[in-house]
Amino acid sequence: MQDTMTAAGQKVHLELYRHRNSIVNDAYDRMVSGIHLHKKSSGYSTFTVTGCEPGAGATTIAISLAISMAISGQKTVLVDTDMKKGSNHKRLNQEIEFGLSHYLTGEASADSIFCDTNYGNLKYITCGQVHDNAVELLCSNNFDKLMAYIKDNFDIAIFDSPSLNATVDASILAARTDAVILVAEQNKTTTTQIRASKRELDNVGANLLGIVLNQVDKKEYKRFLKHYDYYKRMVPDTRKK
Ligand SMILES: Nc1ncnc2c1ncn2[C@@H]1O[C@H](COP(=O)(O)OP(=O)(O)O)[C@@H](O)[C@H]1O
Ligand SMILES: [Mg+2]
Repeated sequence: MQDTMTAAGQKVHLELYRHRNSIVNDAYDRMVSGIHLHKKSSGYSTFTVTGCEPGAGATTIAISLAISMAISGQKTVLVDTDMKKGSNHKRLNQEIEFGLSHYLTGEASADSIFCDTNYGNLKYITCGQVHDNAVELLCSNNFDKLMAYIKDNFDIAIFDSPSLNATVDASILAARTDAVILVAEQNKTTTTQIRASKRELDNVGANLLGIVLNQVDKKEYKRFLKHYDYYKRMVPDTRKK
């Protein structure tokens, strides 16, 4: 593989889910600092972000996490691994010609799948075209090669995966990365679903780092934070009333 692997002329615009509300930002900061600490203490660099069910928010969390890591100075790559849903159906980058599936099937070189983004430290790999045998591709030698390249050339890789209950791809990927971040949706994902996801991850020997509870009501999170007033004093709310 070549040293520089940026697809010329392919730039993806990614947006961080930002909020003026300091308690939302606090929740993100906790997640990002958790990743940093695990990277330092355990040397983890590759992370699967998956949901207990479709729509829980895995892609949203994966994008925000990748951007936050890149902003904090880490050379980061975000990989969309959902090859069952082609890039035409994704919210990001329909114009990107080659993606993960093209590389894994040998149809595209590695150089052509790493796209620039609006963040200097962040590259993006789209899923490519729809592929029925995504499992085979995730178990292929080409996937090994890509992982080795990513580990050598990036500080952090975030793999955005389909949900665990939708396809077996998620658990395969989970087992192939250093750690897994599981996303559940408040008031929707049941504890039975969370337990089933954990069992599935345990069965394949995946390393569950933690569960992100998404779509949490701000008032409830406020109750969780003992010293919310501290944040209120630090960051004045400048929104027009
Ligand atoms: N915390 C959130 N606040 C508001 N909207 C959200 C949040 N998380 C996810 N969404 C929205 O919910 C939908 C599903 O999220 P997505 O990240 O695509 O889920 P998944 O990847 O788990 O299927 C998207 O339209 C996304 O914009
Ligand atoms: Mg998704």
